[in-house]
Amino acid sequence: MTKPVEGFSKLSKEEKIDWLSVNYTRTPETTQKLLKSYWNTDSDVQRLHDEFIENTVTNYYVPLGIAPNFLINDKLYAIPMAIEESSVVAAASKAAKFWLKRGGFSATVLGTVKIGQVHLIYKGTPKKLQLFFDEIKPNLIQSAASITKNMSKRGGGITDIILKDKTDLLEGYYQLHCTFETLDAMGANFINSCLEQFAKTLKSKAETSTLLAQNERHIEIIMSILSNYVPDCLVRAEVCCPVEDFNLNDSMPANLCVQKMVQAVEIARVEPHRAVTHNKGIMNGVDAVVIATGNDFRAVEAGVHAYASKDGRYTSLTHAEVKGDQFHFWIEIPLALGTVGGLTSLHPLVKLALEILDNPSAKDLMKIVAVAGLAQNFAALSSLITTGIQEGHMKMHLMNILNQLGATEAEKQVLVQHFKKKSATHNAVVDAFEALRNSQ
Ligand code: MEV
Repeated sequence: MTKPVEGFSKLSKEEKIDWLSVNYTRTPETTQKLLKSYWNTDSDVQRLHDEFIENTVTNYYVPLGIAPNFLINDKLYAIPMAIEESSVVAAASKAAKFWLKRGGFSATVLGTVKIGQVHLIYKGTPKKLQLFFDEIKPNLIQSAASITKNMSKRGGGITDIILKDKTDLLEGYYQLHCTFETLDAMGANFINSCLEQFAKTLKSKAETSTLLAQNERHIEIIMSILSNYVPDCLVRAEVCCPVEDFNLNDSMPANLCVQKMVQAVEIARVEPHRAVTHNKGIMNGVDAVVIATGNDFRAVEAGVHAYASKDGRYTSLTHAEVKGDQFHFWIEIPLALGTVGGLTSLHPLVKLALEILDNPSAKDLMKIVAVAGLAQNFAALSSLITTGIQEGHMKMHLMNILNQLGATEAEKQVLVQHFKKKSATHNAVVDAFEALRNSQ
């Protein structure tokens, strides 16, 4: 059995690879070659990637694709998407083209409120804690002045702090519930630094406060951390067209397409099993743009799914209805994104992705990401209610299967042609590939 390793992080990258390949892989030399084959040939770029995290041994590639023709608020975008799932970029591009001919997407930011909390335990009289908090609230804000200085100059900063009594949930549990405007930054470091300062100030002020009795002056700070649940950092993206123009394919009349589309969304609204998959499809688009632009997709995922259950039951993030003769389809999602700071100025491909998007503000990026989510949902539902998902999926998957089988370029061309009108199931592809090989 492999022994635990001491001081792994202090080993050089080569030493880490040696240790890993010898202890955890069957063919250490092959492993070493493989890991090194993914290193960037430019040592500066490689160093940059090595230093993003600890114990880097290589880079993990995910394709970066482009979905062009997205008309958003009358501006044409080519959207960069980093994702490994074969059909996502193709689906986004198809949706963009469909809506380009119908006036494009419109998007509006409904709020940009970010949240952070100091969680604390206080066992004294609630009223006294409130009086004490009211008195020292200006001190809390003042104590973070050196952190907030630059953000305030640009029009952002701390927007409010309130004391919340949560003792009905947990004995002695209170919160400083703090709201922030972080402009074009995602703001995680800014918020966490402010919160840790509030916690220190609160604790030290309590120790000498005359508003609190001697035995009430001990406030136990449990933790200070931003919340990834940001229901007021919200964006809405929408499309609409006359019902008669909603013709998804030649074999289904537009009014039936609309009817099935509305019903598909309604099913996701009322049925959590379907809602989760429906929203997963939305996140195919959202995450791909979030990752390409160097944002934190785990934060976005957590916040979006919490929002999907905000009324007590997990439900669809998109909505559809017919009003008069118009079909409306829209999404509302919370997105805490940044276009400055973090990876945005470090990762060369993130910088490029932002340049391709015309260096958007955080608000503009929120709109673009929401549109990508809506487009993805539109594309998924369009397939589901017409041909079924497998036709498009398997076409895209064909290339993966052919690569797995080791098909040559010439063989790929023949087989892509062969499957143009046939269902490309795994077995069918293997059979066709073998037949082609044997015939050569
Ligand atoms: C697959 O990645 C996403 C879909 O399952 C989404 C959906 O069912 O709406 C196709």
